[in-house]
Amino acid sequence: MSFAYKEGRLHVEEVELSAIAQAHGTPCYVYSRSVIETNFRAYRDAFGDRQHRICYAVKANGNLAVLDILAQLGSAFDIVSVGELARVRAAGGNLRTVTFAGVGKTRFEMEQALAARIACFNVESIEELDLLADVAESLGTQAPIAIRVNPDVDPKTHPYIATGLNENKFGVPMEQAREVYRRAASRKGLNVVGVACHIGSQLTTIEPIVDAASRAMAWGDGCYAQGIDVEHIDIGGGLGIAYGSDNPPTIEKYVGAICDALDPHYEIIIEPGRSIVGAAGVLVSRVVYMKQTPTKLFAICDAAMTELIRPALYQAHHDVLPLCSGVKRQKMDLVGPVCETADFLARDRDLGVTSGDLISLMDCGAYGFVMSSSYNARPRAAEILVDGSEVHIARQRETAEQLFADEFRLPASAMRKLGA
Ligand SMILES: Cc1ncc(COP(=O)(O)O)c(C=O)c1O
Repeated sequence: MSFAYKEGRLHVEEVELSAIAQAHGTPCYVYSRSVIETNFRAYRDAFGDRQHRICYAVKANGNLAVLDILAQLGSAFDIVSVGELARVRAAGGNLRTVTFAGVGKTRFEMEQALAARIACFNVESIEELDLLADVAESLGTQAPIAIRVNPDVDPKTHPYIATGLNENKFGVPMEQAREVYRRAASRKGLNVVGVACHIGSQLTTIEPIVDAASRAMAWGDGCYAQGIDVEHIDIGGGLGIAYGSDNPPTIEKYVGAICDALDPHYEIIIEPGRSIVGAAGVLVSRVVYMKQTPTKLFAICDAAMTELIRPALYQAHHDVLPLCSGVKRQKMDLVGPVCETADFLARDRDLGVTSGDLISLMDCGAYGFVMSSSYNARPRAAEILVDGSEVHIARQRETAEQLFADEFRLPASAMRKLGA
């Protein structure tokens, strides 16, 4: 257990979390190297000698220290912007392993990714296909592509993170996919190498994934029959983690089911994010005030929706643990100082905390810091990575001055006009 109480005090690996809070302030994200490594290795071991590529989804947590660990373990990467491509490059990742997903790739992004000679573009529409072909041909090169099909499978997750239904903006609808493949095969700037799909995130049952994988493979087989040599099936990411009472399948079971569903002549590509880094991170915060209203008890924390938007955006649950055992438990809402009623971190929790206490929001390693904002001019939190007994600063806490360092006041001439 990388996050565990020892003598009543919550530790990450060999380090007491309150010592990190003391040294680096709150709110701060704290990551465990060993959890990241264990999860990545679980994927790798589950595939065994089956031909595969694990493309870590950078969107889940793009901190350079996290990417560095994964690059050292030999991970490939899944990106959705050239900003993420730059992160992979800066962390020493192998750009030739990169898969580029996303519905809105721009010409500039295509040029950058082609120059980096990434492994595959997952194409999501006819217009994107045409533009990518034009860009590759104008550069005298060929873009390796997979068509991301939308298999119209209900992933049974929160609607905001469901992506594989016809009503979602993602992927090419099955009815159009044949036409898109034909079109792709006719362009000299494109080399069709795969079929891709991704039905959603925080999936807690295997059946929809297996269903989607089978549908994607049927497409691969269909293309093959038409002379298009599809080499890989990319089934995306999506395996869930155990927030609160969720009970997702293990990495082993999930990979086993995918391997069983797909013909062995296909290379399997997966794009896991949350299931690698989700449980590897916590958000440490201090309770600033307790506030009793006629109907509710609030613990007002120094972390807010700006640090962790998941509760406000998806009604997500994160377990909350006090850093050391404290006062008598009471039912309360944990909220932040941001001027929004949606600014809550947890609701109706039985917690033994009071003003000044430190708490840890668990399972915040994925879609935590990356979704943070500086709304209300709140500098972004520090990120700390723990490796055994060593503590590394993965990102310095932002300063208020950094928030407006790239802004300009009006020039003096404009001020005169205003005054006139
Ligand atoms: C195309 C694609 N691949 C991979 C992922 C990563 O998903 P997860 O973090 O749930 O594994 C996402 C996330 O939404 C995605 O959109």
